[in-house]
Amino acid sequence: MKTVHTVAELRARISEWRRAGQRIAFAPTMGNLHAGHLKLIAGGHKLADRVVSSVFVNPLQFGPTEDFGRYPRTLPDDQQRLESVDCDLLFAPTVEEMYPNGREHLCKVTLPHYSTILEGHFRPGHFDGVTTVVNILFNQVQPDVALFGEKDYQQLLVIRRMVSDLHLPIEIVGVPTEREADGLAMSSRNQYLGPEERKTAAQIHATLGEIADALRAGRRDFAELCGRGLQRLAAAGFQPQYLEVRNPLLDPPGAQETSFVVLLAAFLGKTRLIDNLIVKL
Ligand code: PAJ
Repeated sequence: MKTVHTVAELRARISEWRRAGQRIAFAPTMGNLHAGHLKLIAGGHKLADRVVSSVFVNPLQFGPTEDFGRYPRTLPDDQQRLESVDCDLLFAPTVEEMYPNGREHLCKVTLPHYSTILEGHFRPGHFDGVTTVVNILFNQVQPDVALFGEKDYQQLLVIRRMVSDLHLPIEIVGVPTEREADGLAMSSRNQYLGPEERKTAAQIHATLGEIADALRAGRRDFAELCGRGLQRLAAAGFQPQYLEVRNPLLDPPGAQETSFVVLLAAFLGKTRLIDNLIVKL
């Protein structure tokens, strides 16, 4: 696998593949790769001839009090992991390479509503940072297909909507969440957890699972179900931000809904964790 740091090198490599008529898959990341990220690369191999990944800790999508400075940067390990799953090309640009004109008057991509609810409510501006950087990355790589994790359900939805609204000729594929043995969704932020917190963190998946079971059993008292879940998490030591049942488009579920998403964000100590479960009846 080759690693390139500039857009010029990236375009040169990709245009060779294009000339050979090859199909290209793309999986953007912020690095510190784990098995969840690697599933995106494996998924890409099933859909295309070449798989490109990127590692870029995007300052635009972090709030002023968030963990941009201490976000784990582990490029040599990431390169090894990507090699192990036969990734064809890694793009690892600097902030200057991505935003050569600076960030003060940057042209941004903003999606109303879906970027302001749930995660967007608690992380104002976060999804504007995501849509802006992903749009730039899409313009640089020009993939046929791009893969995103269901772990970040709202991000996947926001990207799908951006691609549809802007008529980008890219197929967006969602990849199921990879979990630890106790159910905790794999995340680069899990390593912030102390040993006790790490044990407690398994309660997230258990709580989501309980609500999913209740929905499958026909319960539709969403507020009651989520209220009980919030109490359980608070008692275990979490500071939950939201726990909600929504329909697959993240609107409040209607009476005849046959699919739901249960979504949660909670602090455990200083670490903010998110997770969700998709429930199809
Ligand atoms: P990052 O958090 O590094 O995640 C990169 C991709 O991996 C995302 O599509 C995310 O949903 C997916 N992913 C993370 N954990 C996963 C898991 N446990 N199982 C399956 N997929 C998982 O998401 C971002 O980076 C950034 O916002 C980005 C899209 C790169 C834009 O900067």
